[in-house]
Amino acid sequence: MINKFLLVLVFVVSLFGVSGAADAKSLVIIFSRADENYNVGYVQEGNTMVLAKMIAQKTGSELFEIKPAKAYPADYDTAIDVAKKEQNAHARPAIAEDKNIDEYDMIFFGYPIWWGDLPMACYTFLESHDFTGKKIALFCTHEGSGLSNTDSKLKRAAPGAEILRGLVVRGSVAQNSRAEAEKSVNSWLAKLGY
Ligand SMILES: Cc1cc2nc3c(=O)[nH]c(=O)nc-3n(C[C@H](O)[C@H](O)[C@H](O)COP(=O)(O)O)c2cc1C
Repeated sequence: MINKFLLVLVFVVSLFGVSGAADAKSLVIIFSRADENYNVGYVQEGNTMVLAKMIAQKTGSELFEIKPAKAYPADYDTAIDVAKKEQNAHARPAIAEDKNIDEYDMIFFGYPIWWGDLPMACYTFLESHDFTGKKIALFCTHEGSGLSNTDSKLKRAAPGAEILRGLVVRGSVAQNSRAEAEKSVNSWLAKLGY
């Protein structure tokens, strides 16, 4: 009797499949700045972008970059001044290109910590889209501040989304210790069901 039940169960599961996070159509959305940054000097590719590319490759996701319409200054000191002014003004800087997110159920959302917050251009994107019913797995890089409650900020900016466990990595580790960064990415993705 139990055997018969198990057989039926196996048949039903194979017919309909078991859907997990890895089955959802996914998109990596990333804000990252190259040029001069704290602890890494001038870089060709931003620290968070390094993680974003790993995540996109490992999950088979498309990658969309939030690019500011007006690029930030290349040198670190000027860039942090511009970013601070934007934050004080609650600015929503224009972005160069938009992306329709309707068809994606799972979003990997990556950003650097800027003045203990998300870069203001991330809010420009978040507030102009409806994330209702989507899962957002955040990942961020920083140089000491950690997550800085940006999970709560993200939740407020994308109401209706389910915010999943975040990945938090030092920018200089992502940039200069790729094997270590990749290990963190792998174990985070595994916990998310990938
Ligand atoms: C404008 C600006 C503000 C920053 N503010 C912080 C901060 O508040 N806390 C922190 O730990 N790191 C801060 N950093 C360092 C970045 O979070 C870190 O270098 C990050 O890895 C950069 O990622 P990216 O290369 O993908 O842009 C700041 C960097 C910049 C350029």
